[in-house]
Amino acid sequence: MTTLDAAFPPAALTVLDVIRARRTVDIGLLKPDAVPRDVVEAILEAGIWAPNHGRTEPWRFTVFTGAGRARLAEVFAQAYAAGSAPDRDSEPALEAQRARAWRAPLWISLELHMPEKPKMPEWEEQAALACAAQNMWLAATAFGLVGKWVSGPVMVSPVAAQALGAPKLMGLLVLGYPAAGLPSVSRAPLADKITWVE
Ligand SMILES: Cc1cc2nc3c(=O)[nH]c(=O)nc-3n(C[C@H](O)[C@H](O)[C@H](O)COP(=O)(O)O)c2cc1C
Repeated sequence: MTTLDAAFPPAALTVLDVIRARRTVDIGLLKPDAVPRDVVEAILEAGIWAPNHGRTEPWRFTVFTGAGRARLAEVFAQAYAAGSAPDRDSEPALEAQRARAWRAPLWISLELHMPEKPKMPEWEEQAALACAAQNMWLAATAFGLVGKWVSGPVMVSPVAAQALGAPKLMGLLVLGYPAAGLPSVSRAPLADKITWVE
């Protein structure tokens, strides 16, 4: 991995450090500790500073914390029941879906609201929401949080979207403080991905 140059400006070193430190961690490896409200608000604020073509600001977020996760538990169960899993009618399977909501202290839905008269193609609005998600994930990292962008069938289900009053759901960011060491990950060498034209 490229080493950071100590002569870089401190802000550059901080941002680059946070980008590298951001990590995906399974929800089973999160502490149950709540994330303070001011930290959650700072994370959300980072989200809305994402770039978006045409200033459409297509992002909406629903924050589930504390007892509010009961609502999310029902959304998961509803979405699972409406899906195609063979056990979608089984009460233990639905209960397992509900239980997921309680396994992490903070969930932020990534809701896509296309403008009424779209000026930009949908992929640009999705990309803007993805930028918002990454901003939030990086801000969360700077606060010592870890987690995951979850995008399985339940997490992007139209039924879940409808329950949240969103036209489309691009998954959720699930965050919490790490209970253990972080997984080590790697990337293919930079040189494999870059073409320089000089
Ligand atoms: C759009 C998007 C959706 C993702 N969905 C999932 C998911 O449903 N389940 C999962 O385990 N990880 C998901 N991830 C996380 C990736 O698995 C993770 O970023 C990858 O393993 C690299 O690890 P890192 O994030 O720690 O660098 C998603 C990431 C993105 C950007």
